[in-house]
Amino acid sequence: MAQVNVGLLGLGTIGTGVANALLSKAHLLEQRIGLRVALAKVCDRKLPVKGSIRIPRERFTKDAHVILRDPDIHIVVELIGGIEPAKTFILEALSAGKHVVTANKALIAEAGHELFAAADRYGVDLYFEASVGGGIPIIKALRESLIANELNAIIGIVNGTCNYILTQMREKQMSFHESLAEAQAHGYAERDSSLDVDGHDTAHKLAILTWLGFGTPLALDKIHTEGIRQVSLADIQYAEEMGYCIKLLAIAKRVDHELEVRVHPALLAKSHLLANVNGVYNGIYVNGDLVGAELFYGRGAGQNPTTSSVLSDIADVARNMAHGVAKRVPTASRSPRPLTLRAMDDIETRYYLRVMVIDKPGVLATIAGILGRHQISIASVSQKERRQARIVPVVMMTHDAKEANLRKALSEIDALATTRGKTVSIRMEAPRAR
Ligand SMILES: NC(=O)c1ccc[n+]([C@@H]2O[C@H](COP(=O)([O-])OP(=O)(O)OC[C@H]3O[C@@H](n4cnc5c(N)ncnc54)[C@H](OP(=O)(O)O)[C@@H]3O)[C@@H](O)[C@H]2O)c1
Repeated sequence: MAQVNVGLLGLGTIGTGVANALLSKAHLLEQRIGLRVALAKVCDRKLPVKGSIRIPRERFTKDAHVILRDPDIHIVVELIGGIEPAKTFILEALSAGKHVVTANKALIAEAGHELFAAADRYGVDLYFEASVGGGIPIIKALRESLIANELNAIIGIVNGTCNYILTQMREKQMSFHESLAEAQAHGYAERDSSLDVDGHDTAHKLAILTWLGFGTPLALDKIHTEGIRQVSLADIQYAEEMGYCIKLLAIAKRVDHELEVRVHPALLAKSHLLANVNGVYNGIYVNGDLVGAELFYGRGAGQNPTTSSVLSDIADVARNMAHGVAKRVPTASRSPRPLTLRAMDDIETRYYLRVMVIDKPGVLATIAGILGRHQISIASVSQKERRQARIVPVVMMTHDAKEANLRKALSEIDALATTRGKTVSIRMEAPRAR
């Protein structure tokens, strides 16, 4: 085999990048993998913008089936996004004996199992490096490089939009809404930003990482997911004063033979490996029993970094084809003894708390008493300056406490006549001492 033919579905941001890179880097790829990778056909439901891509008109189609049914196409690259019709197109490609490369995190997170079962059935490859971390080779690391490790933890900042918003809030003292508007103006956030800011995109990526890292497939609704809408500038400032930053984290970790999987904003000590992952960058911390701590860092989205990962997958599949070895890399192991998912009520972590109280004697003692009755001990407390008439923020950090106990304590604290509004609680993430 001297030439591998690629059919590309979807000529949006990533599709255009992939098409142009396949054309401009054909010689480089040929030198490096010994095969010619040809962009045989591309499909989108509208004609490409003039000058955006240099392919002859006859290689363009608006009908995906022209590619899916073409016996000369070996690899279908799906860059349409969303669940349907992307899922049906991928299943059709696999059943026609074609290998598939996709960047579609939502689809892999939601229907990965069905797709990988189909790839197994038809003896073809399904690669998905660009589905998590844009240009960061985290999927390859988990599937290949770290194959001999039992993982203890995967903790990631995997949504560049949220990371940009939180970084701007901290650096420019902006509110969430001001920072979101700026992210939208710079093209770092969609007009409908809910997939990003409400944590769902991060949950999609965490589902994929958890499955690869721990062999535990998880339905998305099993992942506790909170976004960053409730993170206020005041809490970012208070955290900063105490040596912490606030990040939206994707957390999967093994604790006492159970698995904790959750997405939420968290305080990170500035000394944490992930604390300097700022702006649109992504960072993924992995801890394995052999390898110890590793940090994967880079651009988690955008045309070029994502194109880099898609082309890496295409090169891998092409090499597999040349050697007649589809399924060289197992899609994902399914642990023979999947870890039980720990209920959120049972997790134990430290908490940052901000209670707005009427400034009068005895209030702090009452709050400390409630926390104590629920087995929550306070590591530090500071009463901030008076903001409005007699209402002051009391900021506390707890030692490790059980989530269920914290929720009960907060409902009592919020019911006190001296408390104003709902107490803010943000979990803290400490580096694992290993
Ligand atoms: N953008 C990133 O930075 C990034 C990073 C990592 C992964 N990804 C993933 O990469 C994939 C593509 O993302 P993107 O940002 O390139 O999206 P995009 O800009 O919206 O591109 C998708 C393209 O597919 C077209 N399309 C939709 N349905 C189609 C159909 N039935 N037949 C043919 N074409 C169709 C769309 O046309 P219309 O415009 O008419 O809908 C659009 O041109 C997604 O799965 C995304 O999650 C993106």
